[in-house]
Amino acid sequence: MHSESAASSPPRINLVDPELYAHGDPFEQWRWLRANEPVYWHPPTELPGFWALTRYDDVRAAYRDAETFSSARGILLRPADHGEDPGGGRTLALTDPPRHRQLRGLVDEWFALRSVRGFEPEMTEVARRVVDEALERGSCDFVADIAARVPLYVICNMMGVPSSDWDRLFTLTSQAFGAGDPATQRFAHLEIMGYFEELQAEKADDPSDDLVSILATATIDGSPLSPEDVILNCDNLLVGGTENTRIAAAGGMLAFLEHPGQWQALVEDPGLLPSAVEEVLRWTSTATHILRTAVRPVEIGGRRIEAGDRVTFWLPSANRDESVFDAPDTFDIRRKPNRHLALGFGEHFCLGSVLARAELRILYHELLHRSIRVEPDGEATRLRSIVVNGPERLPVKLTEGAAARP
Ligand code: HEM
Repeated sequence: MHSESAASSPPRINLVDPELYAHGDPFEQWRWLRANEPVYWHPPTELPGFWALTRYDDVRAAYRDAETFSSARGILLRPADHGEDPGGGRTLALTDPPRHRQLRGLVDEWFALRSVRGFEPEMTEVARRVVDEALERGSCDFVADIAARVPLYVICNMMGVPSSDWDRLFTLTSQAFGAGDPATQRFAHLEIMGYFEELQAEKADDPSDDLVSILATATIDGSPLSPEDVILNCDNLLVGGTENTRIAAAGGMLAFLEHPGQWQALVEDPGLLPSAVEEVLRWTSTATHILRTAVRPVEIGGRRIEAGDRVTFWLPSANRDESVFDAPDTFDIRRKPNRHLALGFGEHFCLGSVLARAELRILYHELLHRSIRVEPDGEATRLRSIVVNGPERLPVKLTEGAAARP
């Protein structure tokens, strides 16, 4: 039920202040919106105005209707003076059907269950190496030293990036999507695009069995993808493949540190790992908002949305909707059912969902089966972003075989 009590003292609503996610409590605003204004017109700030959907059912219904809610004009809020997203109409995430299906059809086999199973031995090896290195150091940042490395190395491997370049791409992605200054971020992002420009040219001339070769040699309706389209899609895969998994894996670890009984339950029954991974996904909901643009007038919850309006889905809010989840603010690794929307829904449902789930499972399994004790070793900080939310740094100390609890 959407509780009445949440109506008593309306908080000031501003969902687009990055400080809210670094130091504030966005759940207070989301709870109030779900109860009182579930289809909320968010006035313009430095960003143009937009509709904010915060209830599970509204988000799911809009997700289901890709005919009305287009991705081609961008899936993240951006200031009007930044212009349209350069990937609009070109990358997997930023195209509408029918082109979206055609693009996705080029690569989706690589992300299917069978294919991901084939990568599991390599993923386990990567997780082991990363955890070994962290153990040697004793103290480390769980985000940068553990959670970030597993997904980055795995997606680089799938894309056909030579292993000698993985550390370079690791540094560049950390700079491009880390907390540094905007100039460093832009420079690192350009370097990544430059890297893929060279790689796609090499793979176009001499293709092998990897994702970049597939994109570089693909045709849609008889026409090859342009080099720019290949580069933008490589960027989409690299960012999609690393950012959310890093934050979810670290956010999940933080949740276990805050709820040691839940880790203990996993130690006692590792069979709970798959449902624990689902709860980590729901709990962390690292993709904060997803944007669509209405291409025709539509009504949601009695509010009329016009063609051209921006409509945002606030996934962490939908995943704590009290009308869908029992005790939504409880971290419960046994939760069933757990039909969260952390990986999206419908047409653009996360391409890497099977991979992401496997990466989280394998990483936690590595810690569990070696009885590695993980303890906080300093203050965790949160990302200052309206796009992704979760830990920016999570200083921890790792000790092997010391105890089962984190
Ligand atoms: C915990 C980890 C992850 C989370 C929370 C996550 C979340 C999401 C969400 C919410 C969407 C939907 C975007 C939309 O509705 O427009 C999405 C799409 C996507 N994700 Fe993930 N993701 C994760 C891991 C991955 C991984 C490992 C990959 C690997 C390549 C990946 C690649 C993609 C791609 C390419 C899309 C666009 C799919 C499309 O538009 O058809 N993601 N992801």
